Amino acid sequence: MAGLKALWVAVLLLLLQEASSQLNVCGRAPLNSKIVGGVDAAPGTWPWQARLEAVVLCGGSLINNMWVLTAAHCFPTNDTKGVTVFLGHQDQGGSNPNEVSRTVSRILCHPDYNSVTIDNDICLVQLSSSVTFTDYIMPVCLAAEGSTFNSGIINWVTGWGTASLEGSPADILQGVDVPIVGNRECNCSNGLGTITNNMICAGVPAGGKSVCRGDCGGPLVSRQGPLWVQSGVVSFSRGCALPNFPAVYARVSKYQPWILSKITTNQPGFVDFRSVGTDSDSTFNCGTQTSGPGTTATTAPLKCGSALMNTRDSGQVQSAGVWPWMASLQINGVHMCGGTLVAADAVLSDASCFTMQPSASYWRVELGRRNLNGTNSSTVTLAVRFIVFSNLTGDNIAVLTLSSSPRLSDYIQPICLDMGMGSFLNNADCWMAGWGLGQGGAQQTLQDFNAMLVVCSNVSSQRDYICTEALTVRQGDAGSPLMCKSDNYWTQVAVLPNANRSVFSATARFESFLRTTLGNLLSPPTTNHASDARFPMALSHLLLLSSLYLFSALI
Ligand SMILES: *[C@@H]1O[C@H](CO)[C@@H](O)[C@H](O)[C@H]1NC(C)=O
Ligand SMILES: *[C@@H]1O[C@H](CO)[C@@H](O)[C@H](O)[C@H]1NC(C)=O
Ligand SMILES: *[C@@H]1O[C@H](CO)[C@@H](O)[C@H](O)[C@H]1NC(C)=O
Ligand SMILES: *[C@@H]1O[C@H](CO)[C@@H](O)[C@H](O)[C@H]1NC(C)=O
Ligand SMILES: *[C@@H]1O[C@H](CO)[C@@H](O)[C@H](O)[C@H]1NC(C)=O
Ligand SMILES: *[C@@H]1O[C@H](CO)[C@@H](O)[C@H](O)[C@H]1NC(C)=O
Ligand SMILES: *[C@@H]1O[C@H](CO)[C@@H](O)[C@H](O)[C@H]1NC(C)=O
Repeated sequence: MAGLKALWVAVLLLLLQEASSQLNVCGRAPLNSKIVGGVDAAPGTWPWQARLEAVVLCGGSLINNMWVLTAAHCFPTNDTKGVTVFLGHQDQGGSNPNEVSRTVSRILCHPDYNSVTIDNDICLVQLSSSVTFTDYIMPVCLAAEGSTFNSGIINWVTGWGTASLEGSPADILQGVDVPIVGNRECNCSNGLGTITNNMICAGVPAGGKSVCRGDCGGPLVSRQGPLWVQSGVVSFSRGCALPNFPAVYARVSKYQPWILSKITTNQPGFVDFRSVGTDSDSTFNCGTQTSGPGTTATTAPLKCGSALMNTRDSGQVQSAGVWPWMASLQINGVHMCGGTLVAADAVLSDASCFTMQPSASYWRVELGRRNLNGTNSSTVTLAVRFIVFSNLTGDNIAVLTLSSSPRLSDYIQPICLDMGMGSFLNNADCWMAGWGLGQGGAQQTLQDFNAMLVVCSNVSSQRDYICTEALTVRQGDAGSPLMCKSDNYWTQVAVLPNANRSVFSATARFESFLRTTLGNLLSPPTTNHASDARFPMALSHLLLLSSLYLFSALI
């Protein structure tokens, strides 16, 4: 009897010891020599990094020998079929001598994950069998409940999606250092109400370093003493590494009870991460600055609607650059539809253009063109990362997120978007432009036509519709703009559908969708257009949407 009791105690002790055993191994990366500056990571630099190949490519982090932490939005369903997890993976193109792969036995996403607000974007994935730790495969420690990450604390985000060239993911695992952006500041930059206490943000105010497609679910880690501690799970960001749009992560420290309730053996090591001093974010207020205190980069905000080469008014012969936001949307070098640059890295078009081919990877966007034939030094060709569609009854529009932001010039500029603020009726100077098939001669020169706006007589809302004298829309014109001049800048009032019309859905009708997908809308050069202050910003959650109904270039 006493012997049995002793055995039970021994088993209990073993269990207890097991329960905290990951603390003795987690967060060590013997081969990590990171200090600052982020590029290709040598093998073993981030030994907890997992690569999840499922419907979408995602990152993840190993937290014990059986479980990987990732984002809930990586798994629209909990179906484990076809999901493979790679550990010790380094080089997508080359050999991976330290790699192991596992299928998956369970996917447990957070029950309160909200696909609209992207709150609780966290998920646990159980491997079909355990992995053995090596210098290249190690679990990371997790930030314990109550951990503090003050603004400016340097973290590292890792993944294969960080390269932004032409939409293809990086071959070699990338790691970039990014400072924490406090939640108050992040709330201001991403849009008030978008950031909950379950989120943590990181990014550089000047942009250029952040997460991209394919990084989702990957870890954000910070070093405390000898240990690497995971602070966040890559969740969403607006575009790729845009200034003033810090990327948003699920805040790992909020999930200690949930994780421990799901993983009962070899429990992950939780480390209390503490920042010293006061957090500058605690006094951050929106409106006083767009980039946080202590930031140095003060790049002038991008303005819309300037067309310096446009001499339409003077009746002169038009040259290149007349409509510098015009984009040619192409498949295999063939013009299919028009579009307009409406943000640093986004093009607006008509949803009907994509019914035949909705997959982003097929599309190329050409900017800075006047003639479609031939080449031109002012032309930029970009891949498309993903395409999002509005979902209203009737007309719909599409926003294409480009693989990178084109360098702006006299030939490439974004146009402003009308949100029902402009009253363009009285003799407004309005135009449509497009590369309609068979127009523009052998050089396929961009054509433009004066459009006369009229009062809509039979519409449900004057704000939601724009009426013109009948407009001829030729094949290839769909997605092109109807645009009007006010003061010294141009504003797009409608996207041309693939039909001859006199009544068009106004851009204002898509306000909520546009604010959701584009974040802050651009403002014109001089006037202090108040259009951006009127509505609370909707949520920017492109990355999440991508897993649901947009078509990624990376899958
Ligand atoms: C997957 O989700 C469904 C519905 O939420 C649930 O009934 C089922 O038990 C889940 N399966 C697993 C393996 O968790
Ligand atoms: C973000 O802003 C909204 C609206 O002002 C507020 O309700 C919410 O608490 C803020 N979130 C954070 C984390 O500050
Ligand atoms: C190329 O650009 C130049 C100005 O840089 C312009 O004069 C010319 O018309 C353009 N040609 C085409 C084919 O767009
Ligand atoms: C573009 O069109 C012009 C005018 O017909 C022609 O001279 C030129 O060869 C064409 N360029 C190409 C690359 O097709
Ligand atoms: C579009 O809206 C309809 C009706 O509101 C809804 O049933 C459908 O699920 C939506 N589609 C997408 C892809 O969100
Ligand atoms: C006005 O709109 C209503 C509802 O869409 C339609 O039934 C009616 O025929 C329209 N009238 C005219 C004159 O177009
Ligand atoms: C618009 O009308 C023109 C001329 O009648 C026709 O050639 C063209 O195909 C029509 N466009 C569409 C999209 O139906």
